[in-house]
Amino acid sequence: MDILVEHGKIEEKKYEIVVLGVFENETSDFTSKSLQAVDSSLNGAVRDLLESKEFSGKLNTIDMLRTKGLLPTKRILLVGLGNKDSFSLERLRQVSGKTAVRTRELNIQQIVTSLHEIRQSISPANAAQAIIEGSILGLYQFKELKTDHQIESSSIKSILLLERDMGVLDEIQKGANIGNIIAESTNFARDLANMPANIATPSYLSAKAEELATTFSFEYDVLDESNAREIGMNAFLSVALGSDQPAKFIILEYKPSDNEKLDTIVVVGKAITFDSGGLSLKQKAGMENMKYDKSGGCTVLGLMRAVSQLQLPIHLLGLIPSTENLPGGKAIKPGDIIKSLSGKTIEIVNTDAEGRLVLADALTYAKKYAPQLIIDLATLTGACKVALGTHASGLMANKEAEKFKVLLKTAGEKTGERCWELPLWKEYSTHLISDFADFKNVGGRDGAAIIAAAFLSKFVEKGIPWIHLDIAGTARSDRKKAYIPKGGTGVGVRLIVQFFRDLIRN
Ligand code: BES
Ligand code: ZN
Ligand code: ZN
Repeated sequence: MDILVEHGKIEEKKYEIVVLGVFENETSDFTSKSLQAVDSSLNGAVRDLLESKEFSGKLNTIDMLRTKGLLPTKRILLVGLGNKDSFSLERLRQVSGKTAVRTRELNIQQIVTSLHEIRQSISPANAAQAIIEGSILGLYQFKELKTDHQIESSSIKSILLLERDMGVLDEIQKGANIGNIIAESTNFARDLANMPANIATPSYLSAKAEELATTFSFEYDVLDESNAREIGMNAFLSVALGSDQPAKFIILEYKPSDNEKLDTIVVVGKAITFDSGGLSLKQKAGMENMKYDKSGGCTVLGLMRAVSQLQLPIHLLGLIPSTENLPGGKAIKPGDIIKSLSGKTIEIVNTDAEGRLVLADALTYAKKYAPQLIIDLATLTGACKVALGTHASGLMANKEAEKFKVLLKTAGEKTGERCWELPLWKEYSTHLISDFADFKNVGGRDGAAIIAAAFLSKFVEKGIPWIHLDIAGTARSDRKKAYIPKGGTGVGVRLIVQFFRDLIRN
């Protein structure tokens, strides 16, 4: 996708279509200069439309005006911005996604927009970023496995930001570039998450990771099963026993060359390429969605892509434990006890609580980097989805992560990838006491999302700040929203990039 920024006035330029925003009940004295100019060129057509109540400016509603020779541009796509006082980056992303899709439906190949003109309290750079993000994310489709996808619909080749004010052009360009990188990286994560388990195996993910590392110049390494066995990653390997697909522990490292004293951050992503539950088999209804159990890992890949392309000044490690969870002949059985990489023993009472097993070893492994912060992302518990639905990821953290936690929550508000904290009081750990091992891997249904986090906390080195994000409810959407597609959402890429950018600024 080409992202273009151009200086000019809509009333003097000739395009197929230009997108303009209208606030609710804004019948005259338009906030947007471009809208004002268009309205007078069209002899008050915009005002007429609003006064007739055919179009009210309600959020995300769309109408089109044909200019019939009164303007060089053929059509004006009007989009409702909702109430002026409630305008936000989130709304800007939404209307951008909506209008981008409508432009594609009209078979037009270039989106021209002046939505960034309406900034309210938003900076030009942030406005441009939001528009580009909303558009690219909204246009996302997973068509790779449809054989007729070439003929199915048109595609958008470029997005052009038309700006009247010369003075903010540079800022707009910067914001647009950032938005482009972040959105394409999110779509990269979505593509991987949507890929079915017969294709997206652990080997496939590690090959993709290697390819990505080469393209974006960061380091790639992988531990295969024998490497993992040598160092004692038995919690990770125990999950892989029931599958014929070789497990992979993917390690990615990004470090900007000219910088020595940088914060080291480890991001861990659960990548179960298919979670059948193992011998504690899941019910069949909806089991196809368990291809999304690799979403945490896919997000880490998208994040590495974004951070390396943005050249952020941090030392970032991505750890992706990847395996299938299947009930094969060698599969781990309820009651089996294994010794994890940390040396702690685990009684596996339920083989469907496999995410915490692979994460346990990954969290232990993370300490070798002596990081300032560990974040893990995992589609860890159905209970988290029950608690928060699809509108927020569950956030649980240790005491050391206090200041990071606040920043991450703020990043959630900014990006619309919201996080809601659940308490991690020590009492929750009492549910993990085993008669035979140091811990058991499940502790009943009540508070299961927190108990899962309590289990993970046992494998985080004392003193290292750690945040756990349960993305079971947010990694997959079962319907299309303004800029969130049906299927994999790539949740976490935008959130954590924003968090890093805010962290660097602090
Ligand atoms: N991958 C699942 C969690 C999940 C469920 C993600 C639904 C997305 C949608 C995880 O491995 C799992 O099966 N967890 C169990 C834990 C239980 C056995 C304590 C669960 O949530 O039922
Ligand atoms: Zn499971
Ligand atoms: Zn799982």
